This record gives sequence, C-alpha cells and structure tokens, in this order.
Amino acid sequence: MTYTHGHGPAALANHVTRTAQDSVAFVLPYLHRDSRVLDVGCGPGSITLDLAALIAGEGGAASQVIGVENTPAPVEAAQQLAHQRGIGAVFMTGDARALPFPDGTFDIVVAHQVLQHLGDPVAALREFARVTAPGGVVAVRDADYDAMFFHPQPAGLLDWQRDYRRRARANGGEPDAGRYLLQWARAAGFGAGQLTYSTTTWQYSSGAGASWLADNWVRRTCDSDAVTAEATDRICAGWRTWSEDAAAVFVMPHGELLIRV
Ligand SMILES: C[S@@+](CC[C@H](N)C(=O)[O-])C[C@H]1O[C@@H](n2cnc3c(N)ncnc32)[C@H](O)[C@@H]1O
Repeated sequence: MTYTHGHGPAALANHVTRTAQDSVAFVLPYLHRDSRVLDVGCGPGSITLDLAALIAGEGGAASQVIGVENTPAPVEAAQQLAHQRGIGAVFMTGDARALPFPDGTFDIVVAHQVLQHLGDPVAALREFARVTAPGGVVAVRDADYDAMFFHPQPAGLLDWQRDYRRRARANGGEPDAGRYLLQWARAAGFGAGQLTYSTTTWQYSSGAGASWLADNWVRRTCDSDAVTAEATDRICAGWRTWSEDAAAVFVMPHGELLIRV
C-alpha cells in the first residue's frame, strides 16, 4: 500500500511536533512504571519518546517502550531523536498487520493516526489485541478529514480537503477513520463493555499556529508527486490565503478508542 503522506522532510517535520499529551492523552492514565508499551506506526517517534520518558519518570525503563514502522526512514528519524533526547526507547521495523511479537507481549498498544492508512483496519485491531496481554489496553486515535472545518474557506483549501480524501481512498485508506473506530472494533469482535469512544480536536488559529500549519502543508503538497502542478498551485494559494486572514481558524477532529483486552 502507498502511504498517502509519504516520509518527505515536511511530513516528518509535522509528525515530530506531536506529544503524548496532545495526541494520546486518553491512554496516559493506564501508564505505570511496569507498563510494556508498543507504539505501532510510530513515525519519527516523538509520541513514543514521551511515553518512554513518562515510564522512566515513574522508575521504569525507557526500553520497555518499542516503536515500530514498516519502512526504514521514520525508524531512522526516531532513532536520531531518541539519541538527541537521551531516551532509550527501542525503534524497529515491523508491519502493523503482522507484528513481530508473540501473543500478550505488551500492556499497552498505541496506534496514533495509523488505522486511517490501512486497508484492513479490522484485522489490524485484532492484531493489536493479539500482542496485548489480558488486562491490557489498545488505544487508537484517527483523524476525520471530512469533519475538518476551517474559516475562511478559499477554494484552494476546499480542493486540498477533497484531493487528500480522494488520494487517501485511492491508496486503500479511510481518511474519515475517526468516525468508524467503534464500528471497526465491533466488527473485530470486541464487546461493548470493552470499548470507550471519545473525540478530541487539534486547532490552529491566526498567528503562529496558522502560519506553521499552512507552511507545512504547502511544503508537503510541493513534496508530493501525486498532486499535479496545477492542483499544487491552487492548493498552496488556498493555504496562504487562509493563513493570512486575521480570523483564520482550522479544526481537526479525531476519534479515539480504548479497547480493554
Ligand atoms: C500519520 S503517521 C503517524 C505517525 C505517528 N504515529 C504520529 O502520530 O506522529 C502514520 C504512520 O503509520 C505508518 N504506517 C503505515 N502503514 C503501516 C504499516 N502497515 N505498519 C506499520 N506502520 C505503518 C506510516 O509509515 C506513518 O509513519
């Protein structure tokens, strides 16, 4: 499967700004000093390293936390970041659909914005539960691109939203994954009593937040071979027009699901 965002410098630069607090806060109450944690599709590892630092802060070992990725570029980026931050979490290659671990290896399995890129998210949830020990939890969080809203709405930004959703589906993913997490978990065989669904948002408004988001998406759009030159011009103009508006607002809703195994 083609990963829609790719691992170009702008995509990695975006993902590396994420923290455990702004992305997976709903699983933090389950973390304790003995937790063995797997971060599936960990990207450049900033969330993984936060989880490892929290465990180390409780007296555990950062090496109880493992991040896996199915391609080398993000693994290398994560290993560099671990070195820079001096946190000994472990990063390795591995496929979310067939994780290289025996049954029941982990207490907590996290996958942040990963199911939305997989062709069979139901099978992936079963796989995450397989490597989770009884009594442990699986925590997934995914964006919902159709539910994203913004003001103002330049035509180029509406094109961006439509174009991204089309490309993500063409690559076998589900860009509106946030709304389907419960449905996928029930299809995977989990009972209602095992599941807690919630939503949280990321938001960006005029000033530094809007400029950062727009600059990053302009770079990501230019980096992409999948967007035509004509569409790139329209989309980038849309992002610039939006970010220059003194009342710019962009809201990204996410669905999040906790599964008690
Ligand atoms: C949107 S990024 C999220 C990265 C990280 N979790 C974060 O939030 O910063 C999705 C990640 O899932 C990874 N991914 C996609 N398919 C995968 C698979 N089959 N196995 C493992 N990782 C996968 C991609 O390489 C990418 O780094």
